Amino acid sequence: MSRLLTRTQIQQLVATHGREVIEHEHMQIERRCYQHGNVSTFAHSIRVACLAVWLADRAHLWRRVDLKSLIRAALLHDYFLYDWHDWDDGVHRLHGFTHGGAALRNALADFRLNAIERDSIANHMFPMTTTPPRYIEGWLVTAADKLSATRETFSPDRFRKGEVPLDAAAADRR
Ligand SMILES: [Fe+2]
Ligand SMILES: [Fe+2]
Repeated sequence: MSRLLTRTQIQQLVATHGREVIEHEHMQIERRCYQHGNVSTFAHSIRVACLAVWLADRAHLWRRVDLKSLIRAALLHDYFLYDWHDWDDGVHRLHGFTHGGAALRNALADFRLNAIERDSIANHMFPMTTTPPRYIEGWLVTAADKLSATRETFSPDRFRKGEVPLDAAAADRR
């Protein structure tokens, strides 16, 4: 890939390489769980995947990054499959520290994952958790996650639950 990718090209790459994950029936659970503000975990995961590809592209990292592993790890990084805002007797109190491991356990039950994908999912909450990602793909997922989460948390749209912003609506077709 020599020329810089457009937004549409990035979305197509995510759709193609992420198809198995996106079409899995358990991804439907992510559509019903809110992540930040009014953004579902599903829409958040699509955004993180697109942003991780954009970061790799703009930093000219394609000689060092496995595109498919990057996209699949990004799509599965929050595959914990519960709404962390639910109290559930305090089970989710430590969500920030534990959900990387929960996401990996669920992902391993549903998909065959390579070492890059496994490590990137498990350690995406670094530095909140202690082990840093081992692969460059994991660093890209971690960076894209933090950028997306900050934007979603502070967006004025968060006060309009139910009204989905246009780009999220495209990603989050119900
Ligand atoms: Fe996360
Ligand atoms: Fe996330």
